[in-house]
Amino acid sequence: MVLISGSGTNLQALIDDLAGQGSLASIVGVIANKADAYGLQRAANAGIATRTLSHRDFVDRAAFDQALQREIDAFNPDLILLAGFMRILTADFVKHYRGRLLNIHPSLLPKHKGLQTHQRALDEGDLEHGATVHFVTEELDGGPLILQSRIKIIQGDDAASLATQVQQQEYLLFPLVVRWFAADRLHLNHDRACLDGGPIPASGLRLEDLESGI
Ligand code: GRF
Repeated sequence: MVLISGSGTNLQALIDDLAGQGSLASIVGVIANKADAYGLQRAANAGIATRTLSHRDFVDRAAFDQALQREIDAFNPDLILLAGFMRILTADFVKHYRGRLLNIHPSLLPKHKGLQTHQRALDEGDLEHGATVHFVTEELDGGPLILQSRIKIIQGDDAASLATQVQQQEYLLFPLVVRWFAADRLHLNHDRACLDGGPIPASGLRLEDLESGI
């Protein structure tokens, strides 16, 4: 199950990856909180069920999250992915999906939680930047880290160029982590992300280490 708010390029990367041979998972549905989210079209094109649930139709955050939870649970998903879902979620919602709710964030967490991550990386003079997939807990962008990918920031980079580069990394990260989960290799044990039974370092695994076989 994938939740989105916008263009859905990460959703597309997941759709494409899961369409590959031998995939252990499939996307049962896509929910957007915005009717004009282009990702809904991407899902429909792939034959995936879609729902729109506008937060503007609810009196408060808790009411929206309760309705969202009902929509999600009707699909009975094993895993829920936040792929550009631009909503802060209530603690009750997050607890309900503990261990099966993942987010992708455009920074090297714990740096730059929240919004405007690319500009903030530039403003702080960071030498590197990237993306992170993590388990979602009650703390915004603060749950146990699973996998990161880094890019170097070079002279002349601006927020737009960083966004483009980081997104290319995101399209690699999220499908890989989903494959781990689908193969029952990835778990949240207490407050630690574990892969193949072993704890993942608090700073997360690095895609570049995996690729070089470390
Ligand atoms: C991604 O950069 C993701 O990290 C952030 O929102 C963006 C979503 O982009 N949370 P898209 O809708 O997948 O194209």
